[in-house]
Amino acid sequence: MLSRIRRPTWFTTANLVLGLFLLCLLLLPVVLLGTLSRMDQSQMELQAKEISILVTDIRRYYSDNVVQRIQESDGKAVLTDRYREIHGGIPIPATLSIELGQLFEQAHDDGRIQYRFISDYPFRGRGARPLDRFELEAIKQFRSNPSLQQFTQVRNPFFGDDSYRLATPVLMRKACVTCHNAHPDSPKRDWKVGDVRGIQEITIKDLHTEGGDDFAYLGLYLALVGLTATGAIHLFRRQSARLQRSNGQLLEARHREEAIQQRLRGKVEELSLLASVVGSSTVGVTIADMDRPDTPLIYANQAFYDLTGFDEAETLGRNCRFLRGPLTDPDTSAAIRRAIAKGEPCTVELINYRRDGTPFWNRLNLYPVGGSPGRPKFYVGNQTRITDPSMPMQAGTPQGEPPPASAPQG
Ligand code: HEC
Ligand SMILES: Cc1cc2nc3c(=O)[nH]c(=O)nc-3n(C[C@H](O)[C@H](O)[C@H](O)COP(=O)(O)O)c2cc1C
Repeated sequence: MLSRIRRPTWFTTANLVLGLFLLCLLLLPVVLLGTLSRMDQSQMELQAKEISILVTDIRRYYSDNVVQRIQESDGKAVLTDRYREIHGGIPIPATLSIELGQLFEQAHDDGRIQYRFISDYPFRGRGARPLDRFELEAIKQFRSNPSLQQFTQVRNPFFGDDSYRLATPVLMRKACVTCHNAHPDSPKRDWKVGDVRGIQEITIKDLHTEGGDDFAYLGLYLALVGLTATGAIHLFRRQSARLQRSNGQLLEARHREEAIQQRLRGKVEELSLLASVVGSSTVGVTIADMDRPDTPLIYANQAFYDLTGFDEAETLGRNCRFLRGPLTDPDTSAAIRRAIAKGEPCTVELINYRRDGTPFWNRLNLYPVGGSPGRPKFYVGNQTRITDPSMPMQAGTPQGEPPPASAPQG
């Protein structure tokens, strides 16, 4: 037997939609944060590039317009990295860059900007300035790809102390090569113009010092979303439960209605069966409405019409006394009237007349139906012919029986 795999009860389309909606709500701040952090990042990039360009330009200017000119004019000035200590000393490009970088660093006292002018060939006797992975990689990239303008790294783009690092190549110019290939402390003496001597590196840190507020707002937002969602879920559940309940009630009502219809159909069938039984009975059946004035007949069966020769139009709506005639015993009629007045049944035999005027003995059987005792809603009458209508009549007793002594003789 194959049994269908049943889905868990919570898995409904409505719940799916609700879940997706919640997810969207929850993702909103993440998307916003992402956008913000990308904005942060591009701002950092911009700042770093600006400084980098600035320092480069200053250095170029200095080397072309200060260093080169002094060299060419055999000037008295002494070019040294220790220019401060030496009389007439002026800073070399590296020193200028480093010192300018220090100026930028000092512009912000929170360490937001870092400047490094470094290489993998430090001069002998200078303090160790080790390179990290990023810096070594940058130099390697610049050396293997001369058209590469910059090398960057973005860290922690979403949360916390994110940083942006920008490295640009420091290329050897004519003035640089001259000194570096001749300097006693220089670690390498075969520099050529255009060689990548080292890198200039700028690190911008986006310090989220006031970030606490942002997270508080975010927390508040999430709490609000959670609260709203919980409320929504609650409402949703209640609504759907209510719907389900009223649906059940509707279904129940329909079942009830169907049952009633079924019963009604049965009743109607029963009634039509009864009607056909009454209709085809050989005994006359008549029904009088006792609530209407002079209690007219509202039904008569075919046997009644056959017996009396009257038709429906002549019968219905009239009191049944129209069957009486001159030979009908008035005492019997009075007995009928008394029985009806008390709401009791009665059985009598009396002479009645057919439509064509021929009399016949009629055994009339009357009984109350419906209403309350003594006040019936209907009377039913059964008429049976008990003599051959062609035989002579006399009032009082049916033909063939000895008439009672008191009955008047015809
Ligand atoms: C007059 C000599 C002289 C000239 C000209 C000169 N330098 Fe230097 N350079 C030095 C000295 C000395 C040092 C070491 C400074 C120190 O470590 O404090 C140095 C350091 C450097 C460094 C850092 C090396 C390291 O790893 O610490 C780089 C890069 C550099 N120079 C590039 C250049 C470039 C590019 C030029 C031309 C624009 C240039 N230099 C011109 C003398 C010179
Ligand atoms: C259902 C019903 C059927 C009756 N059928 C006859 C009938 O067949 N023949 C008859 O003479 N009277 C019949 N009667 C009685 C008369 O209608 C009438 O009540 C009776 O003769 C008394 O007459 P009165 O009210 O004019 O005094 C019937 C009454 C009822 C309620």
